[in-house]
Amino acid sequence: MNHFARLTAVLLCLAVTSVPYAQDAADKAAQDTKKAREPDVIYVPTPQDVVDKMLELAKVQKDELLYDLGCGDGRIVVTAAKKYGCHAVGYDIDPRRIKESLENVKKNQVEDLAKIEQQDIFTLDLSAANVITLYLLPRLNVRLIPQLEKLKPGSRIVSHDFRMKGIKPDTVVDFKSKDGGGDHQIYLWTTPLKKSKPTTPTSG
Ligand SMILES: C[S@@+](CC[C@H](N)C(=O)[O-])C[C@H]1O[C@@H](n2cnc3c(N)ncnc32)[C@H](O)[C@@H]1O
Repeated sequence: MNHFARLTAVLLCLAVTSVPYAQDAADKAAQDTKKAREPDVIYVPTPQDVVDKMLELAKVQKDELLYDLGCGDGRIVVTAAKKYGCHAVGYDIDPRRIKESLENVKKNQVEDLAKIEQQDIFTLDLSAANVITLYLLPRLNVRLIPQLEKLKPGSRIVSHDFRMKGIKPDTVVDFKSKDGGGDHQIYLWTTPLKKSKPTTPTSG
């Protein structure tokens, strides 16, 4: 074999064997990116009696599916599964919250109804859900509107403390918590979402 043929053979061999390594590296990079993405809002748990009130307001039914977007320690999905017997999925971007949620689901023995997934909530298709629970920030609620507009008619969205600018709530409930933090507000919207009228400047 001449020098050129040997070199070609070596390069071909390298190309073939490096494909799996390149794939491994790409997978690892994807995993690292997933780990590195910072949450859009810090973790603050909803007091348990506020969770109870949110689910009561949403009128959760046994045959429904609830999503908690940014599930923290999983208390909303665990409560929905335990109290209402419905299916519930908690999504969080932070691996520490995922670990806590999975432990919470296990501790409360609701593995058959409650699932936890590490996902960025802004990438989710929400259309299968009947009830969405939120404890995020006003601007994050607004960012979710295009996804929430794809919910089935009659779906409910409940938000702890934060409104959704541009969308008229059905109800806003003031709630005094005995479990923590004093005064809370709970917003309820039902789909299809009702756009609030833009305020027109008064003339004269
Ligand atoms: C204020 S906590 C609410 C926790 C829980 N829902 C509750 O009410 O107790 C907000 C949660 O959203 C998560 N989060 C922030 N940005 C997120 C994103 N883009 N995708 C998924 N989860 C996110 C945080 O990690 C945090 O656990």
